[in-house]
Amino acid sequence: MADAEQEARLLTRAIETISAGLDLDDVVQGVARLVTETTATDVCFVHLLDEGGTRLRLRGATPPFDALDGEVVLAIGEGVSGWVAAHGEPVVITDDKNADPRYRYIPALRGEEFTSMASVPIVSAPGRLVGVLNVHSRRRREFTSADVELLRSVAGLMAGAIENARLHRRLTDREEALERFAERTVELQESERRRLAGEIHDGISQRIVSLSFHLSAAAEAIAHDPEFAASQIGAAQHLASAALDETRYAIAGLRPPVLDDLGLAASLESLARDLPGLSVEVEAVPCRLPEHVETAVYRIAQEALQNVAKHAEASLAMVRLAEVGDRVVLEIVDDGAGFDPAAAPSATDTVRYGLAGIRERAELIGAELQLDSWPGGGTTVRLAIARPPG
Ligand SMILES: Nc1ncnc2c1ncn2[C@@H]1O[C@H](COP(=O)(O)OP(=O)(O)O)[C@@H](O)[C@H]1O
Ligand SMILES: [Mg+2]
Repeated sequence: MADAEQEARLLTRAIETISAGLDLDDVVQGVARLVTETTATDVCFVHLLDEGGTRLRLRGATPPFDALDGEVVLAIGEGVSGWVAAHGEPVVITDDKNADPRYRYIPALRGEEFTSMASVPIVSAPGRLVGVLNVHSRRRREFTSADVELLRSVAGLMAGAIENARLHRRLTDREEALERFAERTVELQESERRRLAGEIHDGISQRIVSLSFHLSAAAEAIAHDPEFAASQIGAAQHLASAALDETRYAIAGLRPPVLDDLGLAASLESLARDLPGLSVEVEAVPCRLPEHVETAVYRIAQEALQNVAKHAEASLAMVRLAEVGDRVVLEIVDDGAGFDPAAAPSATDTVRYGLAGIRERAELIGAELQLDSWPGGGTTVRLAIARPPG
């Protein structure tokens, strides 16, 4: 088949196809088509070596076999292609493939429809095996050594392109991974910033609010009830040192120290006890949750309780922490003034950290948050946390 002119045409077009793009599939598919067109054969198969280097996988073929992309797998040494891969030498079979011990019939590739075949290794410049290229013809034909050489040249061109395409893919994969990493880092910084703001609002500033309540009560009582005033000042002192502790821990990025000292259930009791001007009933069973989840639950309870104290004018408030099925459920209930949750500030509100912060913390730990409230009907904040397995 190969006169000099045909040869030049094939090589030129192979170079064009290969330099047109860096996509591996396009290169392989394009070259397969080109090879059958210019070598007067009927089909072309390109088997590429897997990353592990132990198997050949069909990665390109002329129609209709292109539909088998990725589905035909051969071990090194298996079939003619496997033999070519193992020995790095071409094979030509002019007719009667079944008589050749290297031949293996693969039904999907319909070998019975083709008579002659040539198979050459695809080898890159430093001598690395990349795969195997096969051509088949329906009619019997001789493949001359010039034909085989031409196929090897095309295969060599393709080898470089395949290696480049793989390298390119690996680089883009890595670039994408880096991009995702950068995004994640920014997200984490952002959530860390919000955490700190939330801790200042929910923990520290709320304690200072309570502290000033106690000081006001002390100031009012000091003339006529010095004993009560003293107890109020004592409570204020306690809150001042708690606020100081929380400041330190917030800065260090750690969770409220009370959680480590007492555990979640007892911490909720202590939260409720510290609330000024309101007695809160607490039913909390000790239950195990990951540390960051406990912190979030504690902060949510803290803010919800502060809201009860600040806004509800309730006669009754309750904190419940219970295990319900495979979930841990926190409830803060009051029978106070209630409000319209739909009218309350949303999570996009960057100024408030109250309800928005509760929602955000719930979302961060993948918990389900339910806020039931209506004017005059009291308020229930319900948080359901899926317990981690084990
Ligand atoms: N338990 C509650 N009872 C009555 N009103 C509440 C309760 N919790 C929240 N609210 C209402 O929702 C509003 C938003 O609460 P929040 O986001 O925590 O902000 P803040 O407490 O700083 O006002 C409050 O100002 C209040 O009107
Ligand atoms: Mg609030």
